[in-house]
This record gives sequence, structure tokens and C-alpha cells, in this order.
Amino acid sequence: MATELGFFELNTGAKMPSLGLGTWQADPGVVADAVTTAVKIGYRHIDCAQAYNNQAEIGSALKKLFDEGVVKREELWITSKLWQIDHDPEDVPKALDKTLKDLQLDYLDLYLIHWPIKMKKGTVGFKPENFILPDIPSTWRAMEALYDSGKARAIGVSNFSSKKLQDLLEIARVPPAVNQVELHPGFQQPKLHAFCESKGVHLTGYSPLGSPGTTTINSDILKNPVINIVAKKLGKSPAQVALRWGLQMGHSVLPKSVSEARIKENFQVFDWSIPEDLFAKFSEIKQERLIKGTFAVHETLGAYKSVEELWDGEL
Ligand code: A2P
Repeated sequence: MATELGFFELNTGAKMPSLGLGTWQADPGVVADAVTTAVKIGYRHIDCAQAYNNQAEIGSALKKLFDEGVVKREELWITSKLWQIDHDPEDVPKALDKTLKDLQLDYLDLYLIHWPIKMKKGTVGFKPENFILPDIPSTWRAMEALYDSGKARAIGVSNFSSKKLQDLLEIARVPPAVNQVELHPGFQQPKLHAFCESKGVHLTGYSPLGSPGTTTINSDILKNPVINIVAKKLGKSPAQVALRWGLQMGHSVLPKSVSEARIKENFQVFDWSIPEDLFAKFSEIKQERLIKGTFAVHETLGAYKSVEELWDGEL
């Protein structure tokens, strides 16, 4: 069994490191240290987004790591995401250029449409009335042009249901390489998993620990009895078990941490595995989507009338 970071091969032929550092809710003041620590430990994949408001700090950390010879650009996998306000085709290349400038890079390994939701021009904030239905085909054409240009070496989506992904696959010239969605033992998404597998779209899990630091949700994945029993039997932490579950499912995982000890802990998931009998127990865990996307949902004002409509019933 591999003792080091593994890889998943995408439909572009590129090999994406199976574990990346998540940076959502990593404050600008601490994210640079988190990235530096992670890369020094052996992380080779950093997941970023314009919307996380910390890309410039990540860019400074990356530049320092390159300048000091800790790692080379081509050894790292950097993902970022197009925000809702930039869905218009003429805005897509400008948004990528801004992200590249902030990250101090000349290409991304992966660029994702962050949500199947569009924000009205000139609006600010997470109010349902600021959001409208996206026109994914027109945005995707602009994403394909970025892929052609080489500035985004792979393109994909995030927060897409099976139906939304199917609709995109029907019109795509360049098929999405990745769908990045909420995935953890408490929200396993079996339908989407099977669909992505059948279409050769790699599934990446965000909030792989169930996002315990998000105050607006009631996350108790790390306290779940099944995970704790497995952790105890294997002599691992609940977080390591949750991450290992994702890897064994064939998902890449993006745990966020700004603590050196936890960044290290989350990387110790490659030289052991969950045996089949214990793996089977994960089917007993109660399932619930934690990140519901309610910011864009309203009966009359939002992009979607209901949470069911946003996720096409995959709740
Ligand atoms: P911190 O950044 O202080 O380590 P997710 O990736 O599912 O969104 O989870 C991120 C949250 O989980 C953050 O609040 C992070 O806090 C916390 N976290 C990260 N790694 C661990 C770990 N190994 N054990 C417990 N909590 C963790």
C-alpha cells in the first residue's frame, strides 16, 4: 500500500494528487502559514477559490516556496473556482486572470464553475434576490476557451447534481474533468458517485470532515459512533478515518486546516486502510447534506425555488 500521497487520473490524462489542502474559511492572516506548512509536510494540492478572499495570501506563500526551492510549480496541483458574479462569457477570462494574478501563477491545474448559480451584476452579498438561474452552456464555452489557451489545464464544475452534470455533458466539447461536491461519511452521494464513475468525471469531496468549524451547520460527523468505533479499532483519529473512507471510495479529499498538528494528522492516511468488514459499517451512518446552498433559494426571489430544485432531489 502506498505510504505517500496517491493520485487520481483525470479524463485529461493529468494525475491529480488525491489529498489537497482546503482553504475555505482559512483567514487571510493564517492561510499563508497553513499552505507553507502543508507543502513542507508533503501536500502537493491546494484547493482555492476567488470567493474565499484569501488567494493573494496563498499566492505570496507559493511564491516564497518556489523562490526558496521547496517545491517547483510543476510539482503542485492548484485548483481555483469561478465565482457567480463572473458567469458572463466575457467575464470568465478576466476572472481567471485576476485569480492567476492573486495566486502569482501563469496557469491553473484545474478551474471549476463554483456553483450552478449566477449572481446579478452590481449586487453584493448572500441575499436570495441577488441570485438568478445560470446559463451554463454559455459559461462553459468560455471555460473551454481557457482550456484551449492552456491557462486552465483542466476544467470542471462544483456543486452539480447528476442532472445538471448530464445536461452539461450533452453540450460540452471538452467534458468536465471534475465535479467537486460535499462528500463525507455523513453524505455519501451514491447516485452521483455512480453517475460520475459511468461518465469518467472524477468526484472530489469538499468538507470531507463534515466541516466541523462551520457555525451555521450542525456537523457531528467526527463524533459519529461508527467512525469512532472504526477509529478506535484501527488506532486512528476520526478525521483520518473520514478521509481514508473518501480515498477508498475513489474520491479526492480536501480537508481544511490551519493547525500544523491537524495538517500533519490529515496527511497520515496513505499507509493503512479500512478493512472491508469495517468499511461496510459506513452504510449505517445517517445521511444529510450539510451545505444546502440556501443562500440562492427562495420561493419567488432566488435562483431556485427550493433546495430540492437546486440539487434536483439529491438531498
Ligand atoms: P482547523 O482549521 O482549526 O484545524 P472540512 O475540511 O470538512 O471543511 O473541515 C474543516 C474543519 O475541521 C475546520 O474547522 C478545521 O479546524 C477542522 N479540522 C481539520 N482537521 C481536523 C482534524 N484532524 N480533527 C479535527 N478537526 C479538524
